[in-house]
Amino acid sequence: MIPQWFIETKRDGHEHPEADLREWVRGVADGTLPDYQIAAWLMAVYLNGLNETETAILTDAMMRSGDCLSWDLSIPTVDKHSTGGVGDKISLPLAPVCATLGLAVPMISGRGLGLTGGTLDKLESIPGFNVRLSVEDFRRLVAEVGCCLIGQTDSLAPADRRLYALRDVTATVPSIPLITASIMSKKLAEGAHCLLFDVKFGSGAFMRTQADAHRLADSLIATGRRLGRVCRALITDMDQPLGRTVGNALEVQESLEVLQGRGPWDVRALVIEEAAHMALSAGLFADLPLARQAAAKTLDDGSALAKFRQMVIAQGGRPDEPLPKAKIRLPVPAPCDGYVAHVDAETIGRVALELGAGRVKVTDTPDPAAGLDCLLQQGERVDPGQPICFLCADTEERAASLIEKTRSAFTLAATPPPERLLIAETIVA
Ligand code: URA
Repeated sequence: MIPQWFIETKRDGHEHPEADLREWVRGVADGTLPDYQIAAWLMAVYLNGLNETETAILTDAMMRSGDCLSWDLSIPTVDKHSTGGVGDKISLPLAPVCATLGLAVPMISGRGLGLTGGTLDKLESIPGFNVRLSVEDFRRLVAEVGCCLIGQTDSLAPADRRLYALRDVTATVPSIPLITASIMSKKLAEGAHCLLFDVKFGSGAFMRTQADAHRLADSLIATGRRLGRVCRALITDMDQPLGRTVGNALEVQESLEVLQGRGPWDVRALVIEEAAHMALSAGLFADLPLARQAAAKTLDDGSALAKFRQMVIAQGGRPDEPLPKAKIRLPVPAPCDGYVAHVDAETIGRVALELGAGRVKVTDTPDPAAGLDCLLQQGERVDPGQPICFLCADTEERAASLIEKTRSAFTLAATPPPERLLIAETIVA
């Protein structure tokens, strides 16, 4: 294959033959293709797209560029992928709920970048928790505990690492086939048989509109099916933050509340819905209401909490030690009375980032204690001067400088708003 002819094919809007596409991905992974040719091809794909067959071949080739795990367990393996959001802590309670239901959950998660938080950063705020396990330990803990959450290893889908880095600097990230291949190559290499996608839309999400989220979900499901996996997707609202906390240790604390049968309604609802779909696609229940009931029970009877503690201890964590706590916790007073009509996820995500909870560059280290808590949620009433949330930071100046910005995220109204539609669509393949 001559690289410039391969690029020309996509530049002119033609379909890549399978053998060429596979050879191309080999060249990406082994370093024989230079950055400038890969970058040119990425832009051609961004402009002209890939069809469903090409997307599946690209995904498969990227998956095979590194190690692929397979699970020889007596119980079904499941995993979920969220496209990320503000306050999205769902994986923390979800994995132990699924494990308690009798599923195996090998979950390879990511770190936060920009506005969206990362599961690994949240878990690392638990004293001692280790997300860098060897593949052997990962396998052992999934078999022994039922769930294990680790970071991506160097040997998993290395072609994606190179492609993603180049997409990031060539303005070619927002391409549905490239996003699909990137997400799916890693998920497929991880080996879980049933996959649930939580595709978020709104101001705090990667996909701004429900229509775009739907297109991405369709593409993920089509690719997963072609490559032999059982896939479902939920299209969920990320125009407002999830729960009442944003920030690593604060979100772990809130996850523990959900695992005790309490916590904010939206986090609980999404954990139950996602666990129910995962259990159903693995064949554990006859219908969705039964699966929901069983998932809710694990939260209410303490069994999922016990599983979470077991997972934390197995991964070196010390669940009885206090979580990191910020030196400063500053209230943000409501400017007037009213009902919370809307809380803008993007603004809250930016405030959390400026409080130190996230990363601007991949090399930054987040402050585990920073963030926002006690966020009022849509529909709640507030009196003037009453806190609409608290800002947790290392210094008073830092927190105080963000009060006005935080206030601007809240829209207050004289009458109660309509109920929030958290789960906009369910797509079952
Ligand atoms: N997450 C990924 O892993 N890849 C993308 O391209 C986008 C989100």
